[in-house]
Amino acid sequence: MENGLKPSFDEKESKKTEKDVASLNECNENGCNAHKIGETAFAPDEDVPMHDVTYSPASPDPPNGVKGTKRDVVLGGNHAKLDEDVLVHRSNDPAWEAERNHYKKIVNTFRTYGNHIYKKLGGTRNYLKSLPTEHQRLLTNYRKHLHDIKRCVEENQNLCILMTLEESHLFENQHEVYPTKKMKQAPPEPTNYDYEKVQAIFKQIVRDWSNDGQEERDTCYKPIIEEVEREFQKTKNEDGISPIKILVPGAGLGRLAHELVCRGYVVEGNEFSLFMLFASNFLLNKCFEEEQYKCFPWVHQTTNVLNRDDQIRAVLFPDIRPCDLPPDSKFSMTGGDFLEVYGTMSQKENWDCLATCFFIDCANNIVAYLERIYYCLKLGGIWVNMGPLLYHYADLSEEKSIEPSYDILREIIQSMGFIIEKEETNRPTLYADNSKSMLSYTYNSVFLVCRKGLPPARVPSSPCKSVTSSPTKSKPTTTTEDNKS
Ligand SMILES: C[S@@+](CC[C@H](N)C(=O)[O-])C[C@H]1O[C@@H](n2cnc3c(N)ncnc32)[C@H](O)[C@@H]1O
Repeated sequence: MENGLKPSFDEKESKKTEKDVASLNECNENGCNAHKIGETAFAPDEDVPMHDVTYSPASPDPPNGVKGTKRDVVLGGNHAKLDEDVLVHRSNDPAWEAERNHYKKIVNTFRTYGNHIYKKLGGTRNYLKSLPTEHQRLLTNYRKHLHDIKRCVEENQNLCILMTLEESHLFENQHEVYPTKKMKQAPPEPTNYDYEKVQAIFKQIVRDWSNDGQEERDTCYKPIIEEVEREFQKTKNEDGISPIKILVPGAGLGRLAHELVCRGYVVEGNEFSLFMLFASNFLLNKCFEEEQYKCFPWVHQTTNVLNRDDQIRAVLFPDIRPCDLPPDSKFSMTGGDFLEVYGTMSQKENWDCLATCFFIDCANNIVAYLERIYYCLKLGGIWVNMGPLLYHYADLSEEKSIEPSYDILREIIQSMGFIIEKEETNRPTLYADNSKSMLSYTYNSVFLVCRKGLPPARVPSSPCKSVTSSPTKSKPTTTTEDNKS
């Protein structure tokens, strides 16, 4: 949002590069769908009661009837490993080499973020030195402030190191991703855009895991959570645990998903950005105390700063202990493209609820996202959505994009077989907002609750006697109650 530009969400680039993770998770011949952060890699410290959030695949289907794949990794026990011959095959596969290169590049971006910013600061300092002596004298406090900024960046850099500390065994199927052998090519250099994504992670931490983000979460996540509770409260047992399965695509740093787990539901987040996945793993699996860490999220924002201290203010996180979850809670995160990971047969009508926040407009083709949401939902299940239509690819000349207006989308949603049960437009929402900045964006988001009904009957192109039409917007034949088994 700096410089009055649209917020640059991480996924703009990640669609190209992080698709990556998607294709690492591709439904390949062995049926592996996702990177996993494994239980072994993140075994809890013995004296710290915690619930590891496992990064799991969405029950991959063996495509083409291939059964018994060894790449299916099941959490909590049946942890199968890749055959050595598959690994050898993989290590010679140029596509996988590219994926590993990408993985390594993201790690390098985190690790060299500080140097990148120092270089920029160096440029500013050199320019300052080139100014007339009198101007330099007048700017003495500004020069001191640049020193303060550098100290903040150093602290951010330390956090980046922590986030990537476990890089070599972050994912359970890490051996497929991580370059254990010498790589044929050096990983590409991080771009400015990659560094911006690291900077965006700090702001995302504020949104999801700090007290400063509470107001933002109240506008974005609270209505979704309240709707879920209204719908599924009655499915909870006396311990507050519910069998209802909720999927959160585009989970970001996982707070919405976490909130839903805390309320007793079975929750899976899905995310395709490795930047987000590294950071969410750190937050969900490595932060054990309230306000254990601090970051300086606004230090890169040099414009529209009212007071110098606003720019170098620290934000403490996490605001709560992410490891405090109900006993036996089921919380996982899949790494991969929503369209691919949830396009398998086992994902069809697999979820009671899909919760999306600032997500559906991340698509090149939003209709494909809507279609996938419909596909994954059980008949009678609900899709709860909050967000604007920023259309993340709209301004990227090298990307394809369609940008249908909300009224057109609404028609499409209904024509797919969704019944719109709640619809509110103009809901003021914020995204990674800097409350002290002289510039702020408010999105007038759409809040939607849609129930999956029967898909409309397709009208055959030629008259055919045996075809009977079914109601296009009928009430679902299966009630939500039916789905709560
Ligand atoms: C604007 S952010 C919103 C994150 C979070 N829901 C929130 O409200 O803070 C959108 C997120 O969706 C992720 N995303 C976009 N397209 C995706 C896809 N096809 N599969 C998985 N994740 C995706 C992005 O990486 C990004 O983290």
